[in-house]
Amino acid sequence: MSIIVTPLSDALGAAVTGIDLSQPVNEQTLSDIKQAWYEHVILVFPNQDISDEEQENFCLNFGELERVRTIDAGSETPHVMMITNVKELDKPTALPDGEMMFHYDQCYYEQPCMGATLYAIEIPDVGGNTLFANCTKAYEALSHDWKQRLDGLRALNYYDYGLTPTMRPEEMNPDVPQWTHPVVRTHSETGRKAIYVSRLMSMRIEGLPEEESNEILNFLFDQMEKPEYIYEHVWSKGDLMMWDNRCSVHARTHFSPNARRMMRRVTVRDPKPVAA
Ligand code: SIN
Repeated sequence: MSIIVTPLSDALGAAVTGIDLSQPVNEQTLSDIKQAWYEHVILVFPNQDISDEEQENFCLNFGELERVRTIDAGSETPHVMMITNVKELDKPTALPDGEMMFHYDQCYYEQPCMGATLYAIEIPDVGGNTLFANCTKAYEALSHDWKQRLDGLRALNYYDYGLTPTMRPEEMNPDVPQWTHPVVRTHSETGRKAIYVSRLMSMRIEGLPEEESNEILNFLFDQMEKPEYIYEHVWSKGDLMMWDNRCSVHARTHFSPNARRMMRRVTVRDPKPVAA
């Protein structure tokens, strides 16, 4: 049986049905999923019932699993990170609760993950939606002059998990992981360019005066976050979302601290370095 791919918005995203992710994926289906992923950037597989191991097995179709690096995830499930405000879990959790600004995952490391999967176990009745922005479309819509101006620039990416996820830090802690990457990166599979900075984690552009660096970054953040490049996902229990971390940023809307939200994340290692 072949999968059915239904676009979710003009910006990005598609729903994939006709597949049970608890089962192995055959070669033809995998090729169809990859094609849909490169075309739509994020894919949601609704109504899935999968264990940690089944989510890991699905991710292994795309490459090696990335270890959780921001916290000690333990030796039994080193690739599984729970993103939740439920504190009594026996597994380590990460990320602050509530609203989070747009970001690329792991962009503060030399080798950020290629893609991520997030599986909805418990969701609040209101809020806790995830917004995704298509950074390829945002780049391609820039003027020729802007594309030339960005050519060769690199930005410092940094994230201090102890700080609020809705404000950029005034001061940076030198001990927090940080890395400079090209401001525009080329996707290793599609060859298309995407803006590779984000409001939450990109602090400054290397080698430029602060004022000019801020001007360029703020222009790019506003460009990427225009409504025409965004899809907002309202979660249902059992959704497995998969995003391409080479060309999309994501953010999360507020949700009540009294409402339970529990998601399981497994990421896929990128075998290729970030390239301009
Ligand atoms: C993340 O930023 O990786 C998590 C997004 C979410 O919790 O919706």
